[in-house]
Amino acid sequence: MSGFVPPPYPYDRLNRLLPITEAHAGGTVDLSIGTPFDPPPTRVIEALATSGTERSYPPSIGTVAFREAAQRWIRRRFDVDVPVAQIGATIGSKEFVATLPQWMHLRTPERDTVLYPAISYPSYEMGAILAGCRPVAVGMLPDGRMDLESIDAADAERAVLLWVNSPGNPTGALDDLDAAARWGRARGVPVFSDECYVEFTWSGRGRTVLESGMDGVVAVHSLSKRSNLAGVRVGFYAGDADIVSYLQEIRKHVGMMVPGPAQAAAIAALDDDEHVEVQRARYRSRLELLAGVLSQWSGEPVPLPQGAFYLWIPVSDGWEYTERLARDGGALVSPGEFYGPAGSSHVRVAVVQPDERVQLVADRLAVGRRRTT
Ligand SMILES: Cc1ncc(COP(=O)(O)O)c(C=O)c1O
Repeated sequence: MSGFVPPPYPYDRLNRLLPITEAHAGGTVDLSIGTPFDPPPTRVIEALATSGTERSYPPSIGTVAFREAAQRWIRRRFDVDVPVAQIGATIGSKEFVATLPQWMHLRTPERDTVLYPAISYPSYEMGAILAGCRPVAVGMLPDGRMDLESIDAADAERAVLLWVNSPGNPTGALDDLDAAARWGRARGVPVFSDECYVEFTWSGRGRTVLESGMDGVVAVHSLSKRSNLAGVRVGFYAGDADIVSYLQEIRKHVGMMVPGPAQAAAIAALDDDEHVEVQRARYRSRLELLAGVLSQWSGEPVPLPQGAFYLWIPVSDGWEYTERLARDGGALVSPGEFYGPAGSSHVRVAVVQPDERVQLVADRLAVGRRRTT
């Protein structure tokens, strides 16, 4: 067969370690996938069950009420006014990331290249591959920002889009969104800014690319992380009038529709900031707890991130560290190469498990609190 063969899904590659972690009393402590564990607010769950929107097809672009809630949130969070017409719904941001290159390539067929950070969420590259485009990784500076200067002029000329992600997965680094917007505008390359971790910014305030104006840029947001709603699948994109309107029309044809109850739940979630404050405190304290546990165990300092809920730990070999931690601590983490070859001497630890599960890992590693059993 000479056609496309999907590569193994990154996290499935951890399955071979499951017998090792499961053998620990108390089972596997999964710190690999960044899936939220904590509950969404009750009001949001009530909205899911009581919207009365089950019968009809929901509007693909998102209900006006949902898009107005997104508009209010952007205004509150960033002091930026986006017209409702320039906002569209997504079934969570992953499908948007993975399908976008196809639509952008159709829009400018003479261009065929997707630019994305060399250490990043794997769907940026996969979206390019699925569209038959050229994925071109942009090198990273030591502080975790993309090295825009290093982009080859020929690649820029062929680019259908540039991805930027801040705070970034997996590094937690904050990128310079103004610089990315300037770079794109100067070259006619649309800039898509994945800002799904923005409310978990630890260094200074959260930023959106929209603060630099809406021309040529689109911000991509999600309810998954902010409101622990990854299971409900809802997010949105907002920005440049022409690009957003083009994507809204295409996505109608494709049948990308967020179920009505999910849109209703998202409105309740977007209008509430209190639960986000509670979640911020949880992640912050877990980041500190786990950094302490792992640095005591390894004898090496574990840096805290500038944003997001991952520890990005420099190690000599990502797989070796992952296997050792599975054996000694019964914990699953992600070897850095899941996020690109440039990540191979790191591991990513998602602090998504409750404190008592983290403490269980500490006990197994015989660090921190003394074993009580
Ligand atoms: C950088 C980044 N973008 C997008 C997503 C997708 O999130 P969702 O599809 O739940 O909105 C994730 C999930 O881990 C992510 O880390």
